[in-house]
Amino acid sequence: MTDRPLRILIVGASLRTGSYNVALARLAARRVGETGAEADLVPYAELAVPDYDADAERADGVPPAALAFRDRLRAADALIIAAPEYNHSIPGSLKNLIDWTSRIKPQPFWGGNGMLLSASPSLVGGNRGAWALRVPLEHLGMRVYPEMFSLAQAGQALTPEGEFVDSKLAGRFDTAIEGFLELVEATVRYADLKRRTSG
Ligand SMILES: Cc1cc2nc3c(=O)[nH]c(=O)nc-3n(C[C@H](O)[C@H](O)[C@H](O)COP(=O)(O)O)c2cc1C
Repeated sequence: MTDRPLRILIVGASLRTGSYNVALARLAARRVGETGAEADLVPYAELAVPDYDADAERADGVPPAALAFRDRLRAADALIIAAPEYNHSIPGSLKNLIDWTSRIKPQPFWGGNGMLLSASPSLVGGNRGAWALRVPLEHLGMRVYPEMFSLAQAGQALTPEGEFVDSKLAGRFDTAIEGFLELVEATVRYADLKRRTSG
């Protein structure tokens, strides 16, 4: 392990009461905690920003919620996003948040590690949305973990309390989260090692 616990920022990108993606984000936060890392599960309502407007940016700067997102990203070693698929792509609110946040210098996504989760009532589990989410994040220099977890038929796959119905699927989810955390740990340890051995 690292000298300190890993810290993972987790976003469930839906405002809906009973959101499947927020449920998945909670399950990710719990698994992160069980591994000894710290989870910062941010309520999506706290990340609400107005529509991007270059004039507003020039007049007032980046909105406080995007700055707060940047602060939480900076305090974290990695980002996990569980996002719905809207029309085979990502929710407009999430893209808008990414766009505003990308205006901050230094650009907050650059060099970070990210993992994408999705949940949907469909048989595909919102996986096309997750693929679409890779595009802006990878463009911004985030290393997006190759494995994505997409929960199909989320209404049946989760209990009303937000637990996995199928223990095998729960195991697959945990393994995916752990694989990502191992990569994050390797990244953090390598950076620590380089810092200690240089000069
Ligand atoms: C505008 C809109 C577009 C949608 N498009 C898709 C879609 O392309 N694929 C899909 O699987 N579900 C689609 N859905 C259904 C969402 O997956 C479903 O509402 C899901 O519950 C949203 O995630 P949440 O439970 O985390 O809020 C769409 C829903 C909305 C409101």
